[in-house]
Amino acid sequence: MCPRLSCLLAIETSCDETSAAVVRDDLSILSNVVLSQDEIHAPYGGVVPELASRQHLRAIVPVVRESLAAAGLPLEAMDYFAVTQGPGLIGSLLVGLCFAKGLAYYHRKPVLGIDHVQAHIESAFLERPDLEFPMLALVVSGGHTSLFVLRKKLAYRLLGKTRDDAAGECLDKIAKFLELGYPGGPVIQKLGAAGDTARFAFGLPRMSDRSFDFSFSGLKTAALRIIRSEKISKDGPHLADFLASFENAVVRSLLKNLGRAAEVVEPKSLILCGGVARNKRLRAEFERLAAGKGFGFAIPSPKLCTDNAAMVGALAWTIVKSRKRIPSTLDLDAYPR
Ligand code: KG4
Ligand code: ZN
Repeated sequence: MCPRLSCLLAIETSCDETSAAVVRDDLSILSNVVLSQDEIHAPYGGVVPELASRQHLRAIVPVVRESLAAAGLPLEAMDYFAVTQGPGLIGSLLVGLCFAKGLAYYHRKPVLGIDHVQAHIESAFLERPDLEFPMLALVVSGGHTSLFVLRKKLAYRLLGKTRDDAAGECLDKIAKFLELGYPGGPVIQKLGAAGDTARFAFGLPRMSDRSFDFSFSGLKTAALRIIRSEKISKDGPHLADFLASFENAVVRSLLKNLGRAAEVVEPKSLILCGGVARNKRLRAEFERLAAGKGFGFAIPSPKLCTDNAAMVGALAWTIVKSRKRIPSTLDLDAYPR
């Protein structure tokens, strides 16, 4: 450990993971502790906001303590505090935000409010700082499905977003309907791994206005129709084929938009990030698309795809380095969207 380099403590509580990380200004991650609430929400098949904020309240002190202990540094060694400000569940966000503001006030250090979606994008730079601009970044998670173009660091322009469900939300809802467990994405990946992707046909959504927006409600309705007409069930014979076909449709839908956008923007590189970027089929097809068109590309390693505080700390350092002065604001407020 080298305490002479600057360090910050980052906190993430936007949804159902309580996470704290110590990140150094050379972007080395000294600790990145993530406490998942999956077991708490699993019986409901989705995140229950009130249960999530109560669990963050219980977990925040031990998670921060463990993160500092793993980094081998005391709170006094932190030069900044960084915290997810939004978007996310408002009660959950407020737990992290109030905690970080309290630490900043007591230790007389600046606190930075960080955007969760931008932090997901930043996670790609942690392992691939060499990526070339301009780039397209596809953020796919349980709460967000958005496509950004970046002409340089911190210059985010939204090209398209989902008009209804997020991709992860769509996977979670179908898994819930089939009583497969929560979160749905990993279960669908596992149970559909050996399935035939061509067994069930799914039409892909097309935006009449040719925008780069996404839509997953049509795929969800089509999935429910097939479940009923083909009598797909948890223990039925066609489950693996159905899940493989459905997961493949979600992947194709995401990449179709990305491919179209790439033709217009002509980026040098592509980023895939967010919790759904853990998906093996999506990772493989994304890689194929990028390599086929000769783009540089980055997909964070799986532990950096799902919500974690290291990505929040990484973006905080990028912001700190881009500014002459960081004002010590304690009037940060959380934003749900
Ligand atoms: O980024 P994240 O941790 O939280 C949000 O910001 O929403 O993403 C959680 C989402 C869930 O919908 C979960 O089902 C999905 O990521 N997910 C996956 C996989 N692992 C997590 N989806 C598909 N395949 C996976 N292996
Ligand atoms: Zn997220």
